[in-house]
Amino acid sequence: MSKLTPVLSAHWDQKDSFTIDAYKRNGGYAAATKALAMDPDAVIQMVKDSGLRGRGGAGFPTGMKWGFIPQGDNKEHYLVVNADESEPGTCKDMPLLMANPHVLVEGVIIAAYAIRAKHAFIYIRGEVTHVVRRVNQAIADAYKAGYLGKNIFGTGHDIDLVLHIGAGAYICGEETALLDSLEGFRGQPRLRPPFPAIAGLYARPTVVNNVESIAAVPAIIANGAEWYQSMGTEKSKGATLYSLSGHVNNPGQFEAPLGITLREILELAGGIRNGHQLKFWTPGGSSTPLFTAEHLDVPLDYEGVAAAGSMLGTKALQIFDETTCVVRAVLRWTEFYKHESCGKCTPCREGTWWLVQILRDLEEGKGTEADLQKLLDLCDNIMGRSFCALGDGATSPITSSIKYFRDEYIAHVTGGACPFDASKSTLFAEAK
Ligand SMILES: Cc1cc2nc3c(=O)[nH]c(=O)nc-3n(C[C@H](O)[C@H](O)[C@H](O)COP(=O)(O)O)c2cc1C
Ligand code: SF4
Repeated sequence: MSKLTPVLSAHWDQKDSFTIDAYKRNGGYAAATKALAMDPDAVIQMVKDSGLRGRGGAGFPTGMKWGFIPQGDNKEHYLVVNADESEPGTCKDMPLLMANPHVLVEGVIIAAYAIRAKHAFIYIRGEVTHVVRRVNQAIADAYKAGYLGKNIFGTGHDIDLVLHIGAGAYICGEETALLDSLEGFRGQPRLRPPFPAIAGLYARPTVVNNVESIAAVPAIIANGAEWYQSMGTEKSKGATLYSLSGHVNNPGQFEAPLGITLREILELAGGIRNGHQLKFWTPGGSSTPLFTAEHLDVPLDYEGVAAAGSMLGTKALQIFDETTCVVRAVLRWTEFYKHESCGKCTPCREGTWWLVQILRDLEEGKGTEADLQKLLDLCDNIMGRSFCALGDGATSPITSSIKYFRDEYIAHVTGGACPFDASKSTLFAEAK
């Protein structure tokens, strides 16, 4: 277990880990006190020095993002925490908020202070009522303790924190669609520039950060930038939550330094479920190109995964063994993207619809070999031509699965049915 570095997850095994008392018992809110005694620019510099990169998918340096907020502009500044977490396979922010909501509240206090924001928002997806209740309780307890509201910690600073419950749309995780939704409009991405740092919420300078990015901040302030730098790889510093799901013996959250490999995480998780082999996996959720068993030793940091042809994304490691039909899995994901396409731009709105039709035919054994080229052409017309990254992401599972599993697509065509269909093949029964 020496590979694990529990920081965010250090106290998740304590029965009352989500309460303010437990959080304080474990040293919580000391970092906020420390930060509030520092110059806000020094806080930003410390986060910059730590090398922390955004954990919402793109890996943008967090301290640098905070540094973009213009100072002395006499405008309201806003901090917005992105807790939409809707990417298939991504499941780190919700467990984190259930087990330790106060680490996010403390991170919000520090980040808002650093960027000179008096108002902060957490935008959470509406379906997760249990998480909403927990975060609301944590916010109420923090207000009661004097950590939020007027004159926080007796320092003369004011910070208000509002939990905003979205209606449950994947696109509202895209930061500018989120801002529109938060303002009460239909959630659709905005044209950039201007970027949120200049004109974000209510056209004011705004930082949008993922839950895990903000939750990482208290430990950085408490332990210092060098401590955080001591974990991870050259350009991907620190530890992070890897979410392992699917055909493994012990799925769950594994907090480890960036750069760990899937082989090492699988060892910690008791391996692929007994009697089965790894077939394919996603390194960062369903919008990141698939990997196969040949990628078991790829370092799971931003550079390592990119060099191997995919993206670290949200570190959602979805594992599929040989019993899974890759065409069926890709069809399911594509149905999701088609459903969640916001409709603003043509390549994604029309393209994802066509992708589903063709994939559905292929999966049912009604497709042709020419359909594979049609799929790739469609993907080519969506990738880089869509208004936001949802369209690009929708193409990733398709192009990567055709790259690694073309034969399996062809088997659907030549066999006239899905070779994994339990009623038509022995493969499923044997694999059970
Ligand atoms: C379709 C789509 C969905 C997204 N969903 C989320 C999400 O649920 N949570 C999140 O933090 N970032 C999500 N993002 C990324 C955000 O746009 C943004 O980059 C992120 O919140 C920035 O935070 P970070 O710098 O801390 O990573 C999504 C992006 C796209 C294109
Ligand atoms: S790519 Fe899709 S989700 Fe993004 S703006 Fe276009 S239609 Fe909307």
